[in-house]
Amino acid sequence: MTIPKFKKFNIEAYKPGKSKIKKLKKIIKLSANEFALGMSPRAKKIISDKKLKLERYPDGKSELLRREISKKYKCNSDKIICGAGSDEVIQMICQLYLKPKDEVIVPQYSFLMYRIYAKIVGAKVVFAKELEFKISVSEIIKKVTKKTKIVFLANPNNPTGTYLTKKELLELRKKLNKNILLVVDDAYAEYMKNKDYKSGLDLFKNKENVFILRTFSKIFGLASLRVGWGLGSKKIIDALNIIKPPFNVSLLAQLAAVESLKDSKFIEKSIKHNLIFAKKIKSFLERYQIFSNMISANFLLLDFKRSNHSAKEFYEKLKNKGIIVRSTEDGYHIKNKLRLTIGSRSENLAFMNVVKNILN
Ligand SMILES: Cc1ncc(COP(=O)(O)O)c(C=O)c1O
Repeated sequence: MTIPKFKKFNIEAYKPGKSKIKKLKKIIKLSANEFALGMSPRAKKIISDKKLKLERYPDGKSELLRREISKKYKCNSDKIICGAGSDEVIQMICQLYLKPKDEVIVPQYSFLMYRIYAKIVGAKVVFAKELEFKISVSEIIKKVTKKTKIVFLANPNNPTGTYLTKKELLELRKKLNKNILLVVDDAYAEYMKNKDYKSGLDLFKNKENVFILRTFSKIFGLASLRVGWGLGSKKIIDALNIIKPPFNVSLLAQLAAVESLKDSKFIEKSIKHNLIFAKKIKSFLERYQIFSNMISANFLLLDFKRSNHSAKEFYEKLKNKGIIVRSTEDGYHIKNKLRLTIGSRSENLAFMNVVKNILN
């Protein structure tokens, strides 16, 4: 039998943070930056409603959700598009903007899906060097050519946890050719309490040549429901709506996202929880010469340069005790570091206990 020929891609497939360990039933997963406190009780309640008509297609335009987003973030709902995760919005942006040989600039250690979706549509991915694992505005500008169509960046960035300040982000937009779309991925913006930080949404809500990405997978705890959104010029959104899959966000995802947005108290509690434990874990690990980035999002990038253990050894030892963290070698090619997601109280305490036993 013959297999009809398909296209070949020179792409390293995305490897998500592991979620299983052979032979172990009880594990603690701190590898995928999901949120420790789960979803808002309001969201949980609405998706448990037995009367929901799941046999019907959902609203393809996610009208109610877009309205709620526009109310909460004070932006026009005509400039919003919802996706099955922000992931799908990244994919649609690449489909809309890129043709073979176009160039996309991504920071060296940026979130992997930018490069993957850009390559799928045949674009050339150009990497901008980072300085000390931080995005550099001047390195991005150096890489601009006539073929550059998009610059993607996450702020703060996953997996480095570093961020561009408000001043640096404004400088980047100013120095970048106006015909280039700057995509600012605010996936972790809600966690940010750092005074010199402003989200893409805060800075560029009405800029025609900036596109903002947001997700419900992180602080809102809806990772499995797959829902995110993008905000851009109405012309971009109208064009995206032409290529968007017709029913891309499920009814459960839409309803849960709407309820999550309304539950400000839960979000406040989640932010506090994250900050308290990020500080605790950071200073705890420093006692063992494991240092990390300045606290920003719901994860820390751990550096083993000054530790007696290598990242690999530490990873294996944690794994043997049922704790999974994220290797940064897979996909990101960052050596001797690990990414640790801040978990629930009990997960964090268990992590610290295991670390004590491993390192003492
Ligand atoms: C920076 C960044 N952007 C986007 C995403 C994708 O999120 P979603 O679950 O909305 O597709 C992630 C997920 O880890 C991320 O870290």
